[in-house]
Amino acid sequence: MTGLLHHFSLEDEVALVTGAASGLGAQLALAMAEAGADVVCLDVDSAGLERTAEAVRAVGRAALTRTCDVTDEKAVAAAFSAAAASFGRLDVMFNNAGIVDRPIELLHETKTESWRAVMSVNLDGVYFCAREALKTMVTQGSGKIINIASMWGLAGSSSVLPLSAYTAAKGAVVNLTRELGLQYAEAGIQVNALCPGFYKTGLRRGLDADIDERRLAFVPMRRVADAAEIRGPAIFLASPASNYMTGQTLVVDGGCLAK
Ligand code: NAI
Repeated sequence: MTGLLHHFSLEDEVALVTGAASGLGAQLALAMAEAGADVVCLDVDSAGLERTAEAVRAVGRAALTRTCDVTDEKAVAAAFSAAAASFGRLDVMFNNAGIVDRPIELLHETKTESWRAVMSVNLDGVYFCAREALKTMVTQGSGKIINIASMWGLAGSSSVLPLSAYTAAKGAVVNLTRELGLQYAEAGIQVNALCPGFYKTGLRRGLDADIDERRLAFVPMRRVADAAEIRGPAIFLASPASNYMTGQTLVVDGGCLAK
């Protein structure tokens, strides 16, 4: 393959996406398939996983689904083993599964359980999945890990809504990305973070309507992105186009953090 397509092709590669049943994760899985990869889809939502797998197969790529809670390190290890047994390699791994603080409160009002729930999915889950992916990638001498952080990993969120655990976890993911970029730079493995702004997904489920207004007022482009708009940046970070980029964050936020 030559020319433009060559830069963005994942032909015959294998990608794994956590939180692949819905929202951005479903779009990431589809993006990988569109770029030519077979896709391993992990999530706690088995019905959603099957919908994503159908979309992957509809563009002619293989999909393996596995119900897996990323906070369960044994389940994560088993899922990555199953992926290796089916495909024999792992080229791209998206650490995407994530939740937000619920209820949304100022820090002094929060309960330890809600802090721990967010840390467990958004930080421990990233650690468990990166660890398993890196075992395979180090042996291969190649691979790309893309951590889905957030613009709230680079700035406080309270100009829109207070998210204590979420901002703490996403900030940690951004700096873990930098550290892993350094640790594995010589091993042929790139680790980058994608920091979305506001996208239309289930993550905002149950939030008050006035939060929608505050979000729109905060975005210079005055719109919330469609979930599908994550596909292009995701393909860039997964593909040869980003081969000389590691430990970095790509912010895709309609201009929010440019302010
Ligand atoms: P979503 O709620 O639509 O999808 C999240 C997916 O993760 C769901 O399919 C859910 O079942 C899965 N999941 C949750 N806990 C899990 C666990 N313990 N193990 C395995 N899977 C689990 O949310 P969305 O928006 O697609 O979020 C995806 C990622 O994007 C998250 O990391 C989120 O923080 C990040 N993000 C989203 C933004 C947005 O505006 N939607 C903005 C910035 C970042």
